[in-house]
Amino acid sequence: MTGDRSEWEPKIVGFLCNWCSYAGADLAGQSRLEYPPNVKIIRVPCSGRVNPLFVLKCLSSGVDGVLISGCHTGDCHYSEGNFHARRRFTILRKLFEYLGIDPKRFQMAWVSASEADKWAKLVKGLVEEIRQAGPNKLGHR
Ligand code: FES
Repeated sequence: MTGDRSEWEPKIVGFLCNWCSYAGADLAGQSRLEYPPNVKIIRVPCSGRVNPLFVLKCLSSGVDGVLISGCHTGDCHYSEGNFHARRRFTILRKLFEYLGIDPKRFQMAWVSASEADKWAKLVKGLVEEIRQAGPNKLGHR
């Protein structure tokens, strides 16, 4: 990173559940929908599998934004994984606010396997929000 903000591109890590959101993102790719390439996807079995430490590690390493995306309410393949994820998300976001970390940097969304358009729109909006938040100063010395 040169420090020149005009060259800066948001780096975002997306933890996507295998059964819904990953499939939705895959469908978006297969359908050749256009959306920014800023989200590096990590496939997880369920949104409930995402340990809050994964998110902290990303942000403390200088990643500009983190997304957790999973199945819609009632569709989780492990019954209640997404409920656990949502509860953790709520608490973690409050912690980030308390620590002075822009909550925009941590987002959660529900995207099903058939919602390729929703995935593409989500990524466009997310990249724009993170762009407005600016580079993550944590992890940069
Ligand atoms: Fe998708 Fe649990 S399997 S959120």
